[in-house]
Amino acid sequence: MNPLLSKLQPYPFERLRQLFAGVTPNAHYSPISLGIGEPKHATPEFIKTALVNSLGGLAGYPATAGEPRLREAMAQWIQRRYDLTVDPATQILPVNGSREALFAFAQTVIDPRWPTPAVVCPNPFYQIYEGAALLAGAEPYFAPSDPARNFAVDWDSVPTDIWARTQLIFVCSPGNPTGAVMPLDEWKKLFELSDRYGFIIASDECYSEIYFRDEPPLGGLEAAKKLGRDDFKNLVAFTSLSKRSNVPGLRSGFVAGDAAIIKQFLLYRTYHGSAMSPIVQTASIAAWNDEAHVVENRVLYRKKFAQVTPILAGVLEVALPDASFYLWARVPDALGLSDTAFAKELLAQYNVTVLPGSYLARDVAGANPGAQRIRMALVADAAECVEAALRIVNFVQSKSK
Ligand SMILES: Cc1ncc(COP(=O)(O)O)c(C=O)c1O
Repeated sequence: MNPLLSKLQPYPFERLRQLFAGVTPNAHYSPISLGIGEPKHATPEFIKTALVNSLGGLAGYPATAGEPRLREAMAQWIQRRYDLTVDPATQILPVNGSREALFAFAQTVIDPRWPTPAVVCPNPFYQIYEGAALLAGAEPYFAPSDPARNFAVDWDSVPTDIWARTQLIFVCSPGNPTGAVMPLDEWKKLFELSDRYGFIIASDECYSEIYFRDEPPLGGLEAAKKLGRDDFKNLVAFTSLSKRSNVPGLRSGFVAGDAAIIKQFLLYRTYHGSAMSPIVQTASIAAWNDEAHVVENRVLYRKKFAQVTPILAGVLEVALPDASFYLWARVPDALGLSDTAFAKELLAQYNVTVLPGSYLARDVAGANPGAQRIRMALVADAAECVEAALRIVNFVQSKSK
């Protein structure tokens, strides 16, 4: 067996299952889960129709690079969304959702012959980054997000000796779980560090289309262009249809950026055997070419967050995020409950599931930036989310007495 497998941590939902073992949820209430970040809005009918109408595509092996018309649809979407021109022949690749791509990317770019290659990740973070780094033979280094600066990752806290052995850095903007969008000056800082130390930036942007301000979130490629880096040197962005188009089951996304890296990634993926099904390719073209359903989806999230956030803000330290579909709330110290105890008692008394923040972060120097926080995914319909929020208010108030 690969000994690196033993370094993998249990996934947050596995830890949640263990935490809840032996808890009997109050049967007086219907169960509501704000735990898993899985889209629940309906998949648009036209995407299902495109899928069904392309079943003829099953009779042939697809190419790993995808059909040219798929890469062109992706490039055109990038053009419309970010006002950027990317070459569909060399700067884009389809992927089967961003998760597998984030993982495979680390296997492609890490050089395990270095004494101890490092991969810098935000903290809290999406757990795939850690597993990808470990299985590539690298050591993850966690940079904390700072609640006082809209959860911006404190890149300045990374010591020089870590940067010197960093080969890859994961950026998550909009962030899971914080919802924070990384501004241009932070990108500038990372590009300068990348130029100095030679590391590659993987920019995970799967929540880019669910946002709450007028201006859409800044993308990594967009930031590069604004800073005159038209060749996207050492930068690859990861984009997904899962949240944008409510198709997490389709497994469809793309990577775009530095042509030299994309070329090597294609080579890796050819051996890995991760070509996208032709049926999925056709449905994906339909999805990337339509923006109306994305606007409608965003309206649903905006209404939901406008209803739920003020209810919870009455009892928890929580604010509307820049983007994503999470609320990242602080458990008041006055309750005398840890984030895990909060989640456990809330389930027992009100049958609402939330995810303890400490499960999404790692202890560094004795501190866990997710401790005393909970993540709530507002993916269910608005009425259920409001009902969950009202139960949380009752729970907090009963504990505050
Ligand atoms: C931060 C982040 N990145 C990537 C993914 C993977 O999404 P997908 O593989 O569906 O594109 C998720 C899924 O929840 C996520 O939260």
